[in-house]
Amino acid sequence: MEKNSFELPVLTDDGLLTPEIKPHSLEKYRAISYYLKIFTTSMKSKWNHLIYIDLFSGSGRSKIEGQDLIVPGSPLLALDLEDRFDKYVFCEEDQWKCDVLEKRVSAICDSKNFKIIQGDVNQNVQSILREMPQFSKSNTGLTFCLVDPYSLSNIRFETIKLLAEKLRVDFLVLIPSNMDARRNQDAYIDPDETTVDNFLGDKNWRDVWEIKRKTMKFGVFVLEYFCEKMKELGYVYKGMDDTMPVYLKEKNFALYHLMLFSKHPLGYRFWNDAKKGVNPQIGFDF
Ligand SMILES: C[S@@+](CC[C@H](N)C(=O)[O-])C[C@H]1O[C@@H](n2cnc3c(N)ncnc32)[C@H](O)[C@@H]1O
Repeated sequence: MEKNSFELPVLTDDGLLTPEIKPHSLEKYRAISYYLKIFTTSMKSKWNHLIYIDLFSGSGRSKIEGQDLIVPGSPLLALDLEDRFDKYVFCEEDQWKCDVLEKRVSAICDSKNFKIIQGDVNQNVQSILREMPQFSKSNTGLTFCLVDPYSLSNIRFETIKLLAEKLRVDFLVLIPSNMDARRNQDAYIDPDETTVDNFLGDKNWRDVWEIKRKTMKFGVFVLEYFCEKMKELGYVYKGMDDTMPVYLKEKNFALYHLMLFSKHPLGYRFWNDAKKGVNPQIGFDF
């Protein structure tokens, strides 16, 4: 595939459903692509199976708003690798996107190497786990899981926790810090609202927010709280500087943050290499 100045493959229109995304999403795609390349090339000889799980797959391609540019979405980026994963599990709620994804993926990947699971991913963790090979000491497996939701309400912490308990898995998570948490702060702090409770897997966050609200914005608070919850599951988290903010350029405003969670220092090192490789815009406002 031809590469453009964003170092992402540029695609010609295949006539199938291709949702529009904002230009800042290219930054996210570059981070995903960079990380996956480092991860698969470094890990392929160390494990019997490398598995890719995409909790929010989309249709496989995206059109950049206001530009004549079509790029691969996360599932196709994960397939555009010199050293591919051995198995791909794609989850997507929208039936239409699943149908299109099926066409796009089956054109480049053997059907035995991928599975598309349609429905709310939070209801489908057992179906995901059923797709995993039987791992053992002599049949080892390392899983990479991309968590790329539209909003906080799409993903429950419980879903991530279950996968983390059952699998040896690293997560790359988009945390909708400002584009959702900060924007909808007034609604979310209502005690009857459960969106943030579910996203953080915890009802106690309001007490902590009461203390931190004097020094912190709500988007950053949710981001940091989520990362601390991942640390409780055993993932390396040293501080917010490890996250990658993705900015709305013209407003110099971080819309959301990407963060890699691995229990191994190597994953953490790959993430730092990927962040440097992507060379995100210099930030102004966390
Ligand atoms: C931000 S888009 C993901 C885009 C994709 N990762 C890409 O790179 O193009 C979020 C996707 O998740 C789907 N979605 C939202 N909530 C979901 C849920 N609870 N379970 C499964 N899919 C969901 C939406 O239909 C949408 O396609």
